[in-house]
Amino acid sequence: MTWNSAMSVNVESLDAQHRTLIALINELGDAMNNGKTDVVIGSVLSKLIAYTQFHFDYEENCMVISCFAHLDHHKCEHDGLKKKVKSLEKDFLAGKANIADEIMNTLQQWLHQHIMESDKQYSPHFIQNGIQ
Ligand SMILES: [Fe+2]
Repeated sequence: MTWNSAMSVNVESLDAQHRTLIALINELGDAMNNGKTDVVIGSVLSKLIAYTQFHFDYEENCMVISCFAHLDHHKCEHDGLKKKVKSLEKDFLAGKANIADEIMNTLQQWLHQHIMESDKQYSPHFIQNGIQ
């Protein structure tokens, strides 16, 4: 999967962070195609947890400082994704089967429903308020 302008929120710092998620999708996808899932899945999950914590805090802070009207709703979506990642980690640690598929589905949904839908809604507001 290659980054393209349809994924852009037109804010440099946030696009750079969103690319991390694409990189994780590719890392996991390559491993799944090459039968190396077991080797990378733990590290993909811990990178995903770190990404989620840093990136959501960063994005929510941009909303606070620019008085974005839909912070609560957006934060609610972030909290849902955080919960999902925690439950994936729990399943992984419990040795659940097909966890890579589940992680991949979650990441794909995240890209299409959160980044390309919900995140795009803050784009004009952030640009107008000088967030870069
Ligand atoms: Fe977001």
